[in-house]
Amino acid sequence: MRIVYRLGLITTLLLAWPALAQGPVFPTTGQGLYEVGCAKCHGDDGAGVDLATVGFDEPLPDFTDCAFASREPDPDWIAVSHEGGPVRAFSRTMPAFGGAFTVEQLQLIMDHIRGYCTDDRWPRGELNLPRALVTEKAFPEDEAVYTASVNANNGGGVVNAIIYEKRFGPRSMWEVEIPFGARELSAENGWGNVGFGDIAVAIKHTMHHSVEAGNILSVGTEVKLPTGSEEQGRGNGVTVVEPFVAFGQALPGDGFLQAFAGVELSTDSDKRAHQAIARIVVGDTWTQGEFGRAWSPMVEVLSAVPLEDSAEVLWDVVPQIQVALNTRQHVLLNLGVRVPLNGERRSTQILMSVLWDWFDGGLFDGW
Ligand code: HEC
Repeated sequence: MRIVYRLGLITTLLLAWPALAQGPVFPTTGQGLYEVGCAKCHGDDGAGVDLATVGFDEPLPDFTDCAFASREPDPDWIAVSHEGGPVRAFSRTMPAFGGAFTVEQLQLIMDHIRGYCTDDRWPRGELNLPRALVTEKAFPEDEAVYTASVNANNGGGVVNAIIYEKRFGPRSMWEVEIPFGARELSAENGWGNVGFGDIAVAIKHTMHHSVEAGNILSVGTEVKLPTGSEEQGRGNGVTVVEPFVAFGQALPGDGFLQAFAGVELSTDSDKRAHQAIARIVVGDTWTQGEFGRAWSPMVEVLSAVPLEDSAEVLWDVVPQIQVALNTRQHVLLNLGVRVPLNGERRSTQILMSVLWDWFDGGLFDGW
């Protein structure tokens, strides 16, 4: 009898021990942790409490707004929650919870916060893979990009472009690209032939996306108009319509793969042959420290083949590295070299892009 009684007591103590050791019972679910740590500012409904009820006037994000919440990936939100607002150049009013919660607990909170956006048509920011220099990505973007390409041989030449991309609806985007350039005529004559190239407009729509599977697939069409001077080598002289498919796959760790296939249909195939295009990008993202600056080395393999008899496939490789320039990480620089692997009189080019994700803040915000 006594032994049974003792065993019972010991079992009760053993079962109660974790709770006794921890003091008041601490929540273990994402929702419970959110209620303890976040709700007094972010609200039980995730929309942010009325500023009149708190002692600060910093506007609170609305986690129920899918147009905002869907595009921010968990790692960025965990960084802000762990280190406090300033780690991404946000306000100090957003406290650092690194001392109170583990990264695992913060992940549970993120899973809870994700439930506030109830419209799953919006592709998640995790699928917004780094932008390669040449290959169009699948994710619909709000961004402005400046690109430059400089011929390293075959006589100097510079082509710049301004690209503006704007999302509409949960899964669509339109884009306009305005190229302009100059060419070195000769050593004596210096630079000339300054002017616009072929202006392009495009639309893109996401057909499939899954943050669990880590992939996204979009289709689109680009129309290149003959606005550039053909004589001066800045234009095709014909309209080119390019239907395309773009695919992105997040890989284990922070790796990624992107693929693109398109057909460039020319309105005058005698002047410019139709062309089939296939491109692939593989890369990885490295973070300085646990929550710091992101570096993404990647390499593109580009192929193009004119759709005419006995045409050869032209191959290029583009090793490159992208780095976040500012603390908010919404202004990014990418530098690379496009190396032709075959074909005559094709110059190696130095390529550069500066990308500004304008939805995340002004160009001069967040440095
Ligand atoms: C004292 C009030 C307060 C508390 C408590 C608080 N936050 Fe915040 N949080 C803010 C403010 C204010 C901002 C907006 C900062 C800005 O925009 O500069 C913010 C911003 C954020 C953002 C950034 C959203 C973006 O713009 O990308 C995330 C994510 C976030 N909070 C998560 C949390 C989590 C998770 C918790 C609980 C663990 C929490 N917050 C607790 C005040 C708070």
